[in-house]
Amino acid sequence: MNLILLGPPGAGKGTQAKRLVQRLGIPQISTGDMLRAAVKAGNALGQRVKGIMEGGELVPDDVVIALFKERASQPDAREGFILDGFPRTVGQAQELGKILEEEGGQIDHVLSIDVPVENLVTRLSGRRTCRACQAMCHVETSPPRRPGRCDQCDGELYQRADDNEETIRERLRVYKQQTEPLITYYGKEEILRRIPGSGSVEEIFKTISSVIGNGKAGG
Ligand code: AP5
Repeated sequence: MNLILLGPPGAGKGTQAKRLVQRLGIPQISTGDMLRAAVKAGNALGQRVKGIMEGGELVPDDVVIALFKERASQPDAREGFILDGFPRTVGQAQELGKILEEEGGQIDHVLSIDVPVENLVTRLSGRRTCRACQAMCHVETSPPRRPGRCDQCDGELYQRADDNEETIRERLRVYKQQTEPLITYYGKEEILRRIPGSGSVEEIFKTISSVIGNGKAGG
């Protein structure tokens, strides 16, 4: 099964993707995680994209398409993948469609997670991520037992460089302008489902599970 999680920054794509990995046994492909890993490694790609990401803008299509191709060609993605944060422009979606078509594949579901803007700003500005295991928490809604330390592995919690209010608002603007058109794009292909994203993580996961339950779009 090939699945796309669509939605604005902070909608819960990464949170739900991790649960879906457990349920479906296929990998999460997050271009954001791959780009952050490159920035952390300080390699040529990381140096190229660091400023773009810190400003809340999108990395060029050719860069993320190359990242996707490389990751999707790995053996663990043979049975499918969960795309988190890719595609993010109509150009990326068109290229993804071509790549899958060449291999006789297709996108089975596009799930667009909807959350009101003000909730997104609150969620993101309070998010903390573990440097060691990447688990996430929120300083107000799901605070760690020990301040600054991860509940799962005691690793150090950090705040993403793009999770400050100014950059969050820019990311939301960019989402509206460049990514939201994908709702219409995939709506025409009749594989898009809107998922209310304001309930608990568990409630949203249940809704997603019921949509993809029979393994076919539109169910
Ligand atoms: P990326 O890493 O993809 O970030 P994003 O899309 O901005 O999404 P986030 O990771 O911030 O949010 P999310 O929806 O995954 O929510 P999460 O589950 O973490 O991209 C970062 C940057 O990389 C981009 O700005 C761009 O520069 C570049 N980039 C990446 N891909 C690209 C592409 N394809 N093309 C071009 N550039 C690209 O949850 C957020 C918070 O909410 C957490 O604290 C979580 O605990 C909490 N939460 C989750 N669910 C709930 C719930 N139901 N109730 C309450 N809180 C919840």
